[in-house]
Amino acid sequence: MLFKRIAEMRRPRDSPSLLCFDLGTAIVATVRKQKIASLHELTEGKTIKFEFALKGKPTEGFVVCFQGQLVAYENRCRHLPLSLDYDDGRFFSRDGKSFVCQTHNAIYEPLTGLCVRGPCEGASLKALKIEVVDGEVWLVG
Ligand code: FES
Repeated sequence: MLFKRIAEMRRPRDSPSLLCFDLGTAIVATVRKQKIASLHELTEGKTIKFEFALKGKPTEGFVVCFQGQLVAYENRCRHLPLSLDYDDGRFFSRDGKSFVCQTHNAIYEPLTGLCVRGPCEGASLKALKIEVVDGEVWLVG
């Protein structure tokens, strides 16, 4: 009952998505800005793992350069709460075109994080917001 009242107070009647926006903002605010890599380390197809705190909990992420673009995701499959790699830093399929979860072989598009084949098809990896400043890659949200 209390939660319902709070939700109603935060959400205008004709804007049902505002509550989701507010929650999303709150989640972003729980990630502390931190340096995660140097740009020169991220050659094409290279992945670098890093740890960060998400809502105060230690969480693993990875950043990759794919087709000249930098993207970062939480290292957590959308099928089960397991890392994509087996702690060996291998994220790519053999052809180097997709990320693959090593547990049940879900296939994800590197630039979007979308699962295109496997038990979580249609779900997406959680993207992390990054910035490049003076040759350093920063996690910012
Ligand atoms: S845990 Fe990743 S596909 Fe099942």
